[in-house]
Amino acid sequence: MASGLKYFVGNWKMFGIPTSFKILNRINSNFVKNKINKENYKVIIAPPFTLLHDYSKRFKNKKILISAQNCFHKDNFGPHTGNISPYMIKKLGIKFVIIGHSESRASGENDNIIKEKVYLALKNNLNIIFCIGENIKDKRRKKTLIVLRKQLTKVLKRNYNFKKIIIAYEPVWSIGSGKIPTANSLIHITAFLKKFVKKQFKLSHLPKILYGGSVDKKNIASFKSISDLDGFLIGGASKSSKNFIDIIKNFYK
Ligand code: 13P
Repeated sequence: MASGLKYFVGNWKMFGIPTSFKILNRINSNFVKNKINKENYKVIIAPPFTLLHDYSKRFKNKKILISAQNCFHKDNFGPHTGNISPYMIKKLGIKFVIIGHSESRASGENDNIIKEKVYLALKNNLNIIFCIGENIKDKRRKKTLIVLRKQLTKVLKRNYNFKKIIIAYEPVWSIGSGKIPTANSLIHITAFLKKFVKKQFKLSHLPKILYGGSVDKKNIASFKSISDLDGFLIGGASKSSKNFIDIIKNFYK
């Protein structure tokens, strides 16, 4: 059931101070000591920008990988107060960046900006966790697949290296709400995304699809039957080492 490489990605959002690295230490040593490290999975944690430099050094050569939560849509250096370019992220030794999160979209990011970010992140050889998802209005109007298709086609291009792009399906109504999609709808949407992306962008392989939105240690077991899913993007529950470790344990139980 839980076959193939799985990703457990923690998005800390606006959380964390320098001493919070202890949370990651506990997660990391759990892999090393525990039998759950026999399973084929990766752990990626996205702390805020303020911690990236320190954490990228601390967790170099460790099982945990560090991701940025976003990047600016202009590269290199420039007069953009408060912003961080993909180049600056790459130079920290960071290999992953989240792009298109609904919380970033809600604060003004549109598809054109996201498109630029994806282009520049790939140019800097970063792996992208590209977030898409419908809001509650789209869902009620049964527009989910139309919205997802649009979010994908406005941003991605055929000549991109899709081995470096992981798609995270995060229904906006599910984020932080405690609500998750039914297994049936998630099976349907994940299968749609895999098929659509492969065909649309002429891939020779199926893309990786994560699910995000209110994933926790109690509901994780209900995702086991969705064999198309390649992992999870976890917000609130990634801020506690115990919750995060329990999610992984319960997934493989
Ligand atoms: P929650 O797990 O807190 O619902 O957040 C999901 C999310 O937005 C991850 O990017």
